[in-house]
Amino acid sequence: MLSKAKVEKYDIHQLKEVCKVVLDKISKDEDTTVAVTFRNIDKWFNPDIQIDLSRIRRAIQAVDSQLIRYFLWVIMSEVIRTGSNDRTSTFKLHRRSEENIQKRDINVIKEFTILVNRGIDDVALYWDKLAKEIKLNEECRNAEADIRWGNTKESIEIDTRFDLLVSSPPYGDNHTTVTYGQTSYLPLQWIDPRDLICPYDYVKTTQEIDRRSLGGQTIKKKILASIVPLYEKTPTLKSFFEGVPEEEKEKYYKTLSFIVDFDESLDKIISSMKDDAFYIWTIGNRFVGNREVPNDQILIELMESRGIQLFERAERHILNKKQPKKNNYSKTMEKEHILIFHKTAVL
Ligand SMILES: C[S@@+](CC[C@H](N)C(=O)[O-])C[C@H]1O[C@@H](n2cnc3c(N)ncnc32)[C@H](O)[C@@H]1O
Repeated sequence: MLSKAKVEKYDIHQLKEVCKVVLDKISKDEDTTVAVTFRNIDKWFNPDIQIDLSRIRRAIQAVDSQLIRYFLWVIMSEVIRTGSNDRTSTFKLHRRSEENIQKRDINVIKEFTILVNRGIDDVALYWDKLAKEIKLNEECRNAEADIRWGNTKESIEIDTRFDLLVSSPPYGDNHTTVTYGQTSYLPLQWIDPRDLICPYDYVKTTQEIDRRSLGGQTIKKKILASIVPLYEKTPTLKSFFEGVPEEEKEKYYKTLSFIVDFDESLDKIISSMKDDAFYIWTIGNRFVGNREVPNDQILIELMESRGIQLFERAERHILNKKQPKKNNYSKTMEKEHILIFHKTAVL
């Protein structure tokens, strides 16, 4: 949904008109019923916030254009992030202290209004910049984007074969790196499910999405069965894991489980690509227990084991992140690697 909201070409005039109606509807809504119910709703949202979010939700649901609903759900997600009782200092769900909750003075409707107006300006600016700076021609401007939901561990549900991949995989299992699932759990409770495509109950528990993501389930039997062929593909992973003292190995099973899943995904991904395709991967070497996991070298070896060579590399420094850098580990990444691969690479 986020991707769709980002790539679609809005008619700015229509967007402005619809948003005006939405904001007007919210301001006139005196209904105090709470539109959603889920376990622990009162833990995460104060009663007045629940009422205001319900007003926002009702107004978005009344919008005919699905595309504009996407835009508005994304903005609503941001006010859920800042208006809930969840701390913004960590990706994990962690309730603020009682004292902090009492002290806060939040008006989600006011915040939503500001962000909707800013969002409209941003969309207009974005297309304007693209047109001016990249001199976007009509053909590019009108190009279609087809966005699909999928689990790369299972399949890439499309028959087309692609020329180019530009992506960034997770840098480890979600539980110990970025808990994408936990961080999206609260917004997902409010967004109308008819605007989300997902074949499983993604809000069953706060852990469900992370559990289903790469490395989300540490099944030792599966890891042990995959480890020998995996080590053949990536000797760097072998020496990394063998270098971990016996008493600390337990901590690294999640890391192994992630690489096992990622390796499986690469098969699915590569089979969707043309033989002479280019791959641009951004990856970071995250830390586990103060040890840097050499994800860049592991990815290079996994690709090379499939006959696809590294062609070019670059680094980028992580200057600032909207979300905090805090996680379970003492050290966090300072840079990311951009790795470009091609099957018949010439160095
Ligand atoms: C570092 S982020 C990169 C996001 C985006 N691919 C990009 O390149 O900007 C990694 C993403 O991989 C997603 N992910 C984790 N496991 C996945 C899986 N099995 N199938 C598809 N995506 C997965 C996470 O939810 C997260 O959004």
